[in-house]
Order: sequence, then C-alpha cells, then structure tokens
Amino acid sequence: MDTYAIGDLRVHRIGFGAMQLPGRGVMGPPRDRDEALAVLRRAVDLGVDHIDTAQYYGPDVSNELIHAALHPYPDGLVLVTKVGSLRDADGAWLPAQRPEQLRDAVEENLRSLGVERLGAVNLRLMDHPVGDPGQRVPMEDQLAELAALRAEGKLAGIGISTASREQVEAADDLVGIVCVQNAFSLLDRSDADVLELCHRRGIAYVPYFPLGSAFPHTPKVTEDATVRAVAARRGVTPAQLGLAWLLAHRENILLIPGTSRVSHLEENLHAADIELTAAEEAELAAAGTIAQ
Ligand SMILES: NC(=O)c1ccc[n+]([C@@H]2O[C@H](COP(=O)([O-])OP(=O)(O)OC[C@H]3O[C@@H](n4cnc5c(N)ncnc54)[C@H](OP(=O)(O)O)[C@@H]3O)[C@@H](O)[C@H]2O)c1
Repeated sequence: MDTYAIGDLRVHRIGFGAMQLPGRGVMGPPRDRDEALAVLRRAVDLGVDHIDTAQYYGPDVSNELIHAALHPYPDGLVLVTKVGSLRDADGAWLPAQRPEQLRDAVEENLRSLGVERLGAVNLRLMDHPVGDPGQRVPMEDQLAELAALRAEGKLAGIGISTASREQVEAADDLVGIVCVQNAFSLLDRSDADVLELCHRRGIAYVPYFPLGSAFPHTPKVTEDATVRAVAARRGVTPAQLGLAWLLAHRENILLIPGTSRVSHLEENLHAADIELTAAEEAELAAAGTIAQ
C-alpha cells in the first residue's frame, strides 16, 4: 500500500478511526467488547500503522480499548489524537480549548494510551458558537500550548481539525502543522480548497466522515445511487468505491474510516487495491451532493 507522511512519520494511506468503537453516540462501552478488540488487532495485522482516536471518545473508551488490544505497540504504529473538546453526561460535545485544558488532555492521552509521545495531536476547533466566554480562546494561544508540548517531546506533530482555509494557513505559518482533519468525502467536497492548500504545502489531509459518518445528518456514501451503480458494475462494495475515490483524488489524503466490525474493516482495507478508470471517475464526479 502507498504511504504519505504525517510530519516525519510515514504511514500507509489507509489507517483506522477509533470513533465507532464505543457505544451508540460515541458514548459508553462497545456493543461487543471482544469485537472491538478484534477490530483493532486485525487492523494492525493487516498493516494499519495509523490509528486516530480521542480521549473524549466514550469518553475514555477508545483509548482504553486501543491500549488493551495493542499495548505494547508494534514498531511504527502512529497514534494520533485530538484535543479541544469534552463530553458531558448526556454526550454533548463541549469546548475545552483553554491552554491548561489542552495540556491536561494531552497528558491524559499519554497516560491512557501508555506512550511517552503521541504521533500527532489535532487541535479540534469547535465548529459551533461557544456560549462560555472562558472558552473563546484565540487560536494562537491554543497552538502556542501545543507547540510547548511538542518542544517538551510529548507530541511529534501538531494538526488542526474543523478548520477553515484561513485557519489552516495561519496555523501552519505559526507552528508548522503536519495534518488537517476536516469532513470530506465523495459526496461532500465542500472542503476542496483546504485539501488543495494542504496538497501544496505537503500537509497530510485526513478526512473525517469519509463514508458519511454514523451520524444521521450526513449523506451516506454507501446509500448513493451513482456510487452503488458503479460499485455493482465493478464488483466492489460502495464503501470500497468511496474510499478508492478518495485515495485516487489526492496523494496527500490519508484515510481513517471508522468501523466497529471486523468484516467492514477488512472490506475497507481492500479499497487500496481498486484503481478507478477515467470513465468511472467521470461518472462519480457527478455524485457529489455537496459540491465544492
Ligand atoms: N476531527 C474530528 O472532529 C473528527 C470527527 C469525526 C470523526 N473523526 C475521525 O474520523 C474517523 C472516520 O469518521 P467516522 O467514523 O465518523 O465516519 P465514517 O468513517 O465516514 O463512517 C463510519 C460509519 O460507516 C460505517 N461503515 C464503516 N465501514 C463500512 C462498510 N465497509 N460498509 C458499510 N458501512 C461501513 C460504520 O458502521 P459500522 O461500525 O457498522 O461498520 C459507521 O456507521 C473517526 O473514526 C474518527 O477517528 C474525527
């Protein structure tokens, strides 16, 4: 499988996103703990060397599972996390963007994952109005805290998530970023300008919701009529086609599809074997429901 670099760390282009491992709504224990552990172990067996997680998945569930399934970690496994949010008891995603909260979150990730350094830490900017004035923290101050943690050796690279083109540009100019996590898929290409910026600057672009997520409000790649028709003709699954399209789209795209099932994991990793024809690309170009 091809690779791309997250800073100094080169990883395979298909990794794994750990957000589907906790229970429904990314809260509480998994539907089936043995299956969740099996997903993680099978991923690594099949060559996954990039796992995306967050302490607030569960909360405290995804990281515990990763540690239970995989520690001591194989050489070369890159663990990437994100900071900037917390969950309340009802599962709401709350901002936690003050520098001391970012520091605590990095320390908590280090502790729960059982590592001395994280491969990268994404600053997750909250994409909705922040009611609490104490959480309206200038992005520069947040990045400065992550840069301090990087200088202390606690993380190899800084990333940014749910960020506009201007924010990505500013963050890269300020501290040098290694990855961006924004929503992007075959059906939602509205972030194309950020992808192009990352491509030009050699920054890994790691789309979240590559299949349209488990949340109800986003278009599902596996349900799109054009995707399904092309996949059926080709003899692959719609998920594989959607992931193969992303791999072909730009070389700096690294995939972290999320799943709670070994069967889906195996299916998704086979997307690396699919080369789209020009005719298929043209047909799929018309499939986007949220154009750029
Ligand atoms: N930076 C951020 O703010 C942010 C936000 C969201 C996500 N993320 C990261 O991005 C990763 C990917 O996003 P995501 O997990 O939300 O969404 P996703 O990968 O687009 O989709 C996950 C959904 O697709 C299903 N699925 C997976 N493989 C499938 C297959 N082969 N066939 C049919 N359905 C399949 C999963 O169900 P099953 O469990 O049944 O397979 C789940 O419902 C996350 O895991 C997380 O690590 C980051």
